[in-house]
Amino acid sequence: MSVLIRGGTVVNHDHSRRADVLIDGETITAVAPRLDVARGAEIIDAGGCYVMPGGIDPHTHMELMFMGNVSADDFEWGTKAALSGGTTMIVDFCIPAPGASMLAAYQDWRRKAEKAAGDYGFHMAVTCWSKQIWEEMETVTKTYGINTFKHFMAYKGALMVNDDELYNSFSRCAQLGAMPLVHAENGDVVFRLQEHLLSRGITGPEGHAYSRPPEVEGEATNRAIMIADMAGSPLYVVHTSCRQSHEAIKRAREAGKRVFGEPLIQHLVLDESDYRNKDWDYAARRVMSPPFRPKEHQDSLWAGLQSGSLQVVATDHCAFTTEQKRMGAKDFTRIPNGTGGLEDRMPVLWSAGVNTGRLTKEEFVAATSANSARILNVYPRKGAIAVGCDADVVIWDPKATKTISAKRQVSRIDYNVFEGFQCTGLPVLTLNRGRIAWKQGDLRAEKGDGKYIERPPFPAVHVANATWKELSSPRPVERMEVTP
Ligand code: URP
Ligand code: ZN
Ligand code: ZN
Repeated sequence: MSVLIRGGTVVNHDHSRRADVLIDGETITAVAPRLDVARGAEIIDAGGCYVMPGGIDPHTHMELMFMGNVSADDFEWGTKAALSGGTTMIVDFCIPAPGASMLAAYQDWRRKAEKAAGDYGFHMAVTCWSKQIWEEMETVTKTYGINTFKHFMAYKGALMVNDDELYNSFSRCAQLGAMPLVHAENGDVVFRLQEHLLSRGITGPEGHAYSRPPEVEGEATNRAIMIADMAGSPLYVVHTSCRQSHEAIKRAREAGKRVFGEPLIQHLVLDESDYRNKDWDYAARRVMSPPFRPKEHQDSLWAGLQSGSLQVVATDHCAFTTEQKRMGAKDFTRIPNGTGGLEDRMPVLWSAGVNTGRLTKEEFVAATSANSARILNVYPRKGAIAVGCDADVVIWDPKATKTISAKRQVSRIDYNVFEGFQCTGLPVLTLNRGRIAWKQGDLRAEKGDGKYIERPPFPAVHVANATWKELSSPRPVERMEVTP
């Protein structure tokens, strides 16, 4: 089956031009100013529209068991929501419980993802350190097509790992040609601030923001950067939400370190005042980590995207219903952390970024698609409109408008944190590997249409022959006598 997209302007991260796009099966086979209609081809008129690579959301959590609840969008509805908003690939996190096998977690996620309607890849989380994990990281990288390992520096007593575990794992990543990712918040300090606030009777959602100030993120980002430098690995900082964290990334890049930063669309347009809303449900629905920040941090994040010190915009889509959020009615530390955003990421970024003059349309493509593909090593199969690429295409009408409303969303949750946001610039048609997945409100993608996308390792950096013992120094810690 072939498809010809006619009359649009092709927008890639590095250039735009008037061109038709021919698709044969799952692949783009020609991009040129005027292409002849192939016999039997379906013709799509893209006059007045931009023809852009399908979005890639590098950070999602489908059907994740987290803080006593399972996030409400599964791979089917999460990817359907994504496709309706122009995103054709998500990268989700396999998260083994501490002490559990990564290989089992991978199988578990593959099973959950069989229902996906759009394409997907995985990151793997390192939630503890052992010889088993050291060994499994090689299988994950070389056999399972996962080249990124996530580390939680927060969620003490649950997923959090310590500095020695970070150093060991980052070193192993360098050896395998993989890249470490960090959730950068100082979990020890967050834990103490939570205790302090609860003891003073602060139990509502505002306590969530007070217990996770920008400083805990700035400190952890700096620490992770230094540890990565000592381990000889690159570093990717997920959900970079504040000036302190962005500045740490910017400094590192100026010093020649390969450090990447990922702001979320939520942190770019929503702010901390939401947690002081008198309606408990309203505030709790917006509880995520890191929390929304005072407005002035948004300027820093936008500047990072404009100047290139921050590279990609994600959602961290981890959607809990209002009912699930109410688990924390008496204690903010028990409100499941996470918000939605998959179907809104591209329209909101276009409206708040391109229409305001902050981003060019090419920078928009870089932040929503191409840079993720490049950093995560699936470029140019994904992230570009060019011959040989997967035919993941979004036809974008810069004049189309809508007001975001939970009533009309695809996501299964009962609210939308962007409720009432007015978008100008929307996808009108999304193709995933040549198949029309979504067309002007008509969701055509079906459960199971998505494909698992492997991401090969990068060339290994150094420490290439180091053994488990050398990399992990598992010697017992000797207590030093300290005499007064
Ligand atoms: O609050 C968040 N971000 N929930 C999802 C898990 C994580 O930290 O990424
Ligand atoms: Zn996180
Ligand atoms: Zn996350």
